[in-house]
Amino acid sequence: MKNILVTGGAGFIGSNFVQLMLKKYDDIFVVVYDKLSYAGNLDNLLPVADNPRYQFYKGDICESDEVNAAMGKYQIDTIVNFAAETHVDRSLTDPGGFIQTDVYGTYILLEAAKKHGVERYHQISTDEVYGAVLEGRSVETDQLKPRSPYSAAKAGGDMMALAYATSFGVSVTITRGSNNIGPYQYPEKVVPLFIINAIDNQPLPLYGDGLQMRDYQHVFDHCEGIDMVLRHGQPGEIYNLGTGVETTNIEMARLILKLLNKPESLIQPITDRPGHDRRYALDCSKIKTLGWQSQHTFEQAIESTVKWYADNEWWWRKIKSGQHYREYYQRQYAGRER
Ligand code: NAD
Ligand code: DAU
Repeated sequence: MKNILVTGGAGFIGSNFVQLMLKKYDDIFVVVYDKLSYAGNLDNLLPVADNPRYQFYKGDICESDEVNAAMGKYQIDTIVNFAAETHVDRSLTDPGGFIQTDVYGTYILLEAAKKHGVERYHQISTDEVYGAVLEGRSVETDQLKPRSPYSAAKAGGDMMALAYATSFGVSVTITRGSNNIGPYQYPEKVVPLFIINAIDNQPLPLYGDGLQMRDYQHVFDHCEGIDMVLRHGQPGEIYNLGTGVETTNIEMARLILKLLNKPESLIQPITDRPGHDRRYALDCSKIKTLGWQSQHTFEQAIESTVKWYADNEWWWRKIKSGQHYREYYQRQYAGRER
């Protein structure tokens, strides 16, 4: 692993991964390949912008010629694919964009992996591919039962990656992560959205009864787990990646308000997300056998995330005041109060 192509590296998790890898290793070269969608942001990569072992390459994973040009130019031996459309609510209004990037784009990257004979193709996947898990925990061999266009597209990407391993011998690994929180998360996702609304004394729009359960893990833990799989994971294998501890959305909202010293009256119940998955829960025994362990509890992860947003208004104010975000917010939330 010398020259790594990090697709989607200007997004939330990808940019944290790039920062971690450049800090941890001095013998790797990292190329971020990203089309800079609404969620891609070069501010996320400012801490590494002057690093001589980092290069940004603007491109779309759905464009085969662009992908192959970047692969050849930088003699890429490893692909880590974070690039995706990632927000479940947006997948309900634009499923086509999700199929295009998360399935077709994955296929284009796998073709490039095959053509250039990479040492490893790593696919970043999600616990959502298992569908809602009302009891027990998902293991890697469970049947996939995705229920939203987002999770169905991600499941399609996983299946394609495994098919390239079987059919063409591409060295594929997959991680299926739970909900990440931490620095640089676009504030359409619930935790940063609730934090910045609370800071501005605006309502926290809570879907349905707020009793849905998620495993909120710190993005630093997720990135360490991906690195662990890249170095010690077995080709052809899938690894779940989360804390294994779930919290309800209402508990998460209350904790954010408490940390910011804001009243619970800011919680505003609104109509539910259609098809809302009640619970995801991962069994993470397999990745623990590699030596990985989560370093943050839910409370620690939320606390440090709240602090990061409170300390970095320069980062999110630009987004919140921008036209794209304001129009999205209006479309998504207007008139949904219950
Ligand atoms: P994000 O939305 O913050 O970033 C996605 C990035 O991909 C952006 O930089 C965007 O510009 C880029 N991108 C989108 N379409 C592209 C295309 N066609 N070509 C090139 N670049 C493109 O996403 P995130 O939350 O950082 O998620 C990263 C990956 O992790 C995704 O694959 C997602 O499914 C997965 N995942 C996310 C979470 C989570 O909680 N956020 C949890 C588990 C798995
Ligand atoms: O589980 C991993 C997945 O986590 C990733 O694969 C996705 O890319 C990521 O977006 C995330 O999906 P979720 O749907 O779980 O995340 P989101 O932040 O959109 O919502 C988290 C929970 O909060 C969910 O139960 C819905 C609820 N919610 C969300 C929003 C945006 C609200 O109550 N109010 C909101 O305004």
